[in-house]
Amino acid sequence: MTAQLNPRGDVAVLVPAAGAGVRLGPGRPKALRLLAGEPLLVHAVRRLAEARSVHTIVVAAPVAEVDAVRELLAPVAPVSVVPGGAERQASVAAALAAVPAGPEIILVHDAARALTPPSLVEAVAAAVRAGRPAVIPVLPVVDTIKEVDAGEVVLGTVDRSALRAVQTPQGFLRSVLTSAHTAAGDPLTDDAGLVEKQGVPVSCVSGSEYALKITRPFDLALAEHLLASGG
Ligand code: C5P
Repeated sequence: MTAQLNPRGDVAVLVPAAGAGVRLGPGRPKALRLLAGEPLLVHAVRRLAEARSVHTIVVAAPVAEVDAVRELLAPVAPVSVVPGGAERQASVAAALAAVPAGPEIILVHDAARALTPPSLVEAVAAAVRAGRPAVIPVLPVVDTIKEVDAGEVVLGTVDRSALRAVQTPQGFLRSVLTSAHTAAGDPLTDDAGLVEKQGVPVSCVSGSEYALKITRPFDLALAEHLLASGG
């Protein structure tokens, strides 16, 4: 039986957490790296479990760490843990296959966005509940963006006013995400990309600076600082 949080909730959250985290430098899989003494995954799951709409959480863990992740999360929240895949997309598909009947809203949330506030989880879920088939949290792009060639010579300047930086959790009607994964071809870096390919409209809601993706050592230092300053 799949572990359950709020039985009245209508949201299942899939947490792909099977990445190696090469860009963080040598060490344990990224989701298990420590932030203020606790693994990133623990921070992420704790915040997801605080969101009232969440009925189920399914984590896709590194294959060699499934039992360890189950033990790690048992005191944090009732979650299901499945083995992840070689690519993020395969990890999401594995977690999706483990969602029990019931929740009709599915959120996909990177473990690496460990400080994502429960309010963003609720905002994305609410937009799906209100009738949007696919919803992503975004922030405006603040830097000037250049397109370059293979030799790092600038080809042109992109109009940043029409660009958005995309975060997770991304939210979907269950049927929409299931069809997109069934039809998936080459791996993409997010789930909304698969849904776009199906011709389904994807809507944006305001993201959060706290939902930063902890990818490089600088991000980890920034996240430590945010936590220490009460973020
Ligand atoms: O590699 P990237 O930073 O895009 O990873 C985003 C998220 O996808 C991370 O939480 C990572 O653990 C997860 N992932 C996964 N399975 C993989 C690769 C990445 O679950 N094979």
